Amino acid sequence: MTTSAPLTQDELKTLVGQAALQYVVPGEIVGVGTGSTVNKFIDALATIKDQIKGAVSSSVASTERLKALGITVYDANAVESLAVYIDGADEIDGKGYMVKGGGAALTREKIVAALAGRFVCIADESKLVPVLGQFPLPVEVIPMAAAHIARRFAAEGGQAQLRLRDGQPLVTDNGQHILDVKGLAIADPLAFESRVNQWPGVVTVGVFAHQKASVCLLGTAQGVKTITY
Ligand code: 5RP
Repeated sequence: MTTSAPLTQDELKTLVGQAALQYVVPGEIVGVGTGSTVNKFIDALATIKDQIKGAVSSSVASTERLKALGITVYDANAVESLAVYIDGADEIDGKGYMVKGGGAALTREKIVAALAGRFVCIADESKLVPVLGQFPLPVEVIPMAAAHIARRFAAEGGQAQLRLRDGQPLVTDNGQHILDVKGLAIADPLAFESRVNQWPGVVTVGVFAHQKASVCLLGTAQGVKTITY
């Protein structure tokens, strides 16, 4: 008897990226997230590009990939609503609350998610957690507020670090910086998101509780598991 090797994380991402096609509404514009899992979805979307009107994208990187594959990208201001938004997550809990922003695209991701009737999260099973906060929480901040916001997190037991790229502060698509905050256990994601979003200088906190997932397509060793919230 031969046993097949377990699927790699990359293969799980491909599986869920392809599975997300079933949520794409023919003839409509689809909301597209950012990240390595979404890249698999974009590749799958290209195979049915003639059946959709186009996409609204959550980052420069996804826009470039969509356009390179011949998919029309619309400005978010040009659409009133989207049936569906498809994106990955850094963490997702049992209620569909997520931490996002590992790819620094959290603000635009939250905007496109807010336009959509349904958020389909695509993730491999390593992303499923009992409580949000194991993954360092991304927070997009106005640069002049970074040190102040880091002190506010420190007062709550968090350790915030400015995200760097090539030794320099990473600059987001919106011209801002990212703090990654370790040491938080986010027991009440809705209250946490509302509270931190009000701190002066916070552009967006990477907790997606008000814009939580409606469905999660989770890549597991047994195949794609669909979880509805
Ligand atoms: C980007 C994100 C991504 O969805 C998140 O980081 C997951 O990425 P990946 O699919 O590469 O694991 O929030 O800002």
